[in-house]
Amino acid sequence: MTSKEIRIVYNEYESLDQLELRDRELAQAAIEATKGSYAPYSNFNVGAAVRLDNGQIVKGSNQENAAYPSGICAERTAMFYASANYPENAMTAIAITASQNGTLCDNPVTPCGSCRQVMAQYQTKGGQPMEILLVGGKKIWKFSKVDDVLPLIFDSI
Ligand code: THU
Repeated sequence: MTSKEIRIVYNEYESLDQLELRDRELAQAAIEATKGSYAPYSNFNVGAAVRLDNGQIVKGSNQENAAYPSGICAERTAMFYASANYPENAMTAIAITASQNGTLCDNPVTPCGSCRQVMAQYQTKGGQPMEILLVGGKKIWKFSKVDDVLPLIFDSI
């Protein structure tokens, strides 16, 4: 028997000002995207912004439905839009944030398992790392690739 270890390194920032310009713009786009959220059931307004390999930014937000499973997270809204409309462009980064009652959540929002799996596949499709920025009002976490939030990714078929 051998014990193995999975180590994840990520950066924490205290405010948007500490980010490099292109990340700050992506984070601000995610914050802007929360305004498009339709969340009458959870009142949890999530925004996501995807950066394409040509620098273009695509926004998405969570969209809920009375038939709960029919709703979808902000991250997948943004990624599916990006893939559907810009199929030739790799997604090089995604920023995620959330607000409640119009106020940005203090802590970073961590994506659900389904969104991580979808990120993983688009990272593979794009052939380059997809950076992940989890943006809270009081702290921001940056991961350099999807593997860091989804170790042992399923991509076997
Ligand atoms: N949600 C997202 O959009 N992204 C996440 O990373 C976590 C959860 C949404 C789904 C649902 O509309 C609401 O937040 C509450 O779970």
